[in-house]
Amino acid sequence: MRRLVSETRLHPADLVLPVFVREGVTEPMPINSMPGVVQHSLDSLPAAIAEAAAVGVGGVMLFGVPESRDAVGSGATDPDGILNVATRVAREAAGDALVVQTDLCLDEFTDHGHCGVLRPSTGWGTDFVVDNDATLERYREMALVQAASGSQLLGLSGMMDGQTAAVREALDEAGFADVALLAYAAKYASAFYGPFRDAVESQLEGDRRTYQLDPGNRREGVREAILDIDEGADIVMVKPAGSYLDVLADVAAASDVPVWAYQVSGEYAMIEAAAAYGWIDRGRAIVESVRGIRRAGADVVLTYWATELAGWLKDGLE
Ligand code: PBG
Repeated sequence: MRRLVSETRLHPADLVLPVFVREGVTEPMPINSMPGVVQHSLDSLPAAIAEAAAVGVGGVMLFGVPESRDAVGSGATDPDGILNVATRVAREAAGDALVVQTDLCLDEFTDHGHCGVLRPSTGWGTDFVVDNDATLERYREMALVQAASGSQLLGLSGMMDGQTAAVREALDEAGFADVALLAYAAKYASAFYGPFRDAVESQLEGDRRTYQLDPGNRREGVREAILDIDEGADIVMVKPAGSYLDVLADVAAASDVPVWAYQVSGEYAMIEAAAAYGWIDRGRAIVESVRGIRRAGADVVLTYWATELAGWLKDGLE
């Protein structure tokens, strides 16, 4: 009876697995603050994709961890840069079984760790600021290289103003009209990204509060989503998920494109840590956390548990 009247069901196809791929390693490397998640090598990546595909996961979102970084994030637009090579390897491994997506942002590739290129600041109390429009030029270049590498869905996570329109235009002009855009529309300046910055070995100086949203702002999250839809986003994202369920519900009500949510690294780490102490029922907490995000309005959830959870769902456990 409970199953018959359940309002929110989980399905493997509604889950996306974020995957880290590190340059210059042959073995997968553990990530301290994310027990159970690794930085894959190019060699270990195909098996991870096959495992996700075997249990019906809907897609993978690739992040690159390069060996060297510079001020403009050159590795991001190098066709032989780690993320672009990983994309080709992932497409080969995935076939038609799942959608290969890439993070389109400079932070993994810059030596200062910001999502864009910097310019000297004039009167804001800091030495530099992220140059929004110069960054859009880099995103346009990055989009073309990612599309040429075979990425099917570009995850615009940099939170620059106008990024969706800029990237859409660049893709269309270059004949990549079929490559879709996932706009991280409502991305908050969150403490819950902490473990991720370990995972990509971020060298971030300062914080991202000049371009990511203020955690107190609900209306602004909806406004950002609508702007991105108007600019041509095919899907909009709310991130993090668990602490932003009100924003997610509002965006879901306002959006006429699919709405996704990202259960981020800190959300993962909290449940894993509490479970490791024996303070929480790990399996139930995972299912409940993802179900709550779906209930609030997410069509799809990006979660580091995607493969494991999809396996449980496949076995009829929920
Ligand atoms: C930016 C990006 C971040 C995450 C995904 N894309 C980090 C940030 O904005 O600091 C965080 C994801 C997570 O915490 O799991 N490339």
